[in-house]
Amino acid sequence: MSGPATVRVDLAGRAYDIVIGPGLIDRAGELARPAIAGGRAVAITDSQVAPLYGERLKASFARAGLALDLITVPAGEASKEFGAFARLMNDLLDRRPDRRTVLVALGGGVVGDLTGFAASVLLRGVDFIQVPTTLLAQVDSSVGGKTGINTRHGKNLVGAFHQPRLVLADTDALATLPPRELLAGYAEVVKYGLIDDPAFFDWLEAKGAAALAGDADGRVRMIETSCRAKARIVAADERETGDLRALLNLGHTFGHALEAETGFGPELLHGEGVAAGMGLAFDLSARLGLCPAADAARARRHLAAVGLPMRLRAIGGDNSRAWNAARLIDHMRGDKKAVAGKLTFILARGIGRAFVSREVPEDALTALLNEAIAA
Ligand SMILES: NC(=O)c1ccc[n+]([C@@H]2O[C@H](COP(=O)([O-])OP(=O)(O)OC[C@H]3O[C@@H](n4cnc5c(N)ncnc54)[C@H](O)[C@@H]3O)[C@@H](O)[C@H]2O)c1
Ligand SMILES: [Zn+2]
Repeated sequence: MSGPATVRVDLAGRAYDIVIGPGLIDRAGELARPAIAGGRAVAITDSQVAPLYGERLKASFARAGLALDLITVPAGEASKEFGAFARLMNDLLDRRPDRRTVLVALGGGVVGDLTGFAASVLLRGVDFIQVPTTLLAQVDSSVGGKTGINTRHGKNLVGAFHQPRLVLADTDALATLPPRELLAGYAEVVKYGLIDDPAFFDWLEAKGAAALAGDADGRVRMIETSCRAKARIVAADERETGDLRALLNLGHTFGHALEAETGFGPELLHGEGVAAGMGLAFDLSARLGLCPAADAARARRHLAAVGLPMRLRAIGGDNSRAWNAARLIDHMRGDKKAVAGKLTFILARGIGRAFVSREVPEDALTALLNEAIAA
């Protein structure tokens, strides 16, 4: 088996490494040591991940001579609510941290976003390390420095840009991840191919299913390629001031509307919404004459082949949901990516040729959604 891969995120003064490979939780102490000058760290994890990896992380830190406290929050998105965040801050302060205390996020995107935001404001800012344990967190949320929590106005509306000092993506952790969560994360992997890397999309068509099924080298390669893509985009446009970082939202305008309609709950996972949303974004591009219909079909075919729900009818597992085009468009207007009520879409001229468009005619959008609802 090949060793770990390292991806450097090039940010002036705050560059950091993403290390990807098997067995990294057991090596986390040794790898994190240079980033923990004070010798002290507090890990935040959730109730699903704690019994699986909590003690192993602690033992690994102990072997490196590092003291590690563990705080466990309930698994699930509710741990990103204000009240939960306030409790976490007090739990952290109970441990009398100082400015050199380092936080460690052990878990999926929920724990990562929560821990990163806590680190950005604890004692006006301490360092943090990401140990992502879901595929989504390994290829997306742990990279790039967006952190945040939820309010009743929507998800991630309170947050900060705060880059981690180090990311350790242990590919072995994916072995315990529920298959549906693994697949949802894979949608974000495919996204990088569809944005600007057609050769990666070719590779995923050939090897993606094997990587999902457990092929160890394939997993490292797909995560590494994804992190490289995100790192490159983040280094060029850290705060999404230009259009480049916005490309990472391919499938997300549609996806968020589907998630909003299904209540951001277990009926539709984020990555599942993104997969269906990328299908719709390619279909819309084809309908507007921007993208060959064959490319749209090819994008859909791969996502469906690995088992992602691509038809609106397939969402929720029953046929009872009454989707409505006008309501979906309303959700899109409420999205924080909409600027002054104008809808932003990431469209494509083909596989690996995504671009930002604010010019989508509403009648084309309505017609597309009505077709997708009927399909
Ligand atoms: N900051 C960003 O740039 C960014 C990007 C995308 C998504 N996000 C955020 O990420 C969150 C979603 O992340 P997620 O999909 O990782 O969800 P999650 O953190 O809720 O994890 C999904 C489920 O898997 C469990 N789990 C995690 N690792 C496991 C493992 N190795 N074995 C078994 N179970 C495991 C968790 O306990 C949870 O129940 C959302 O809050 C979203 O807003 C942030
Ligand atoms: Zn996403």
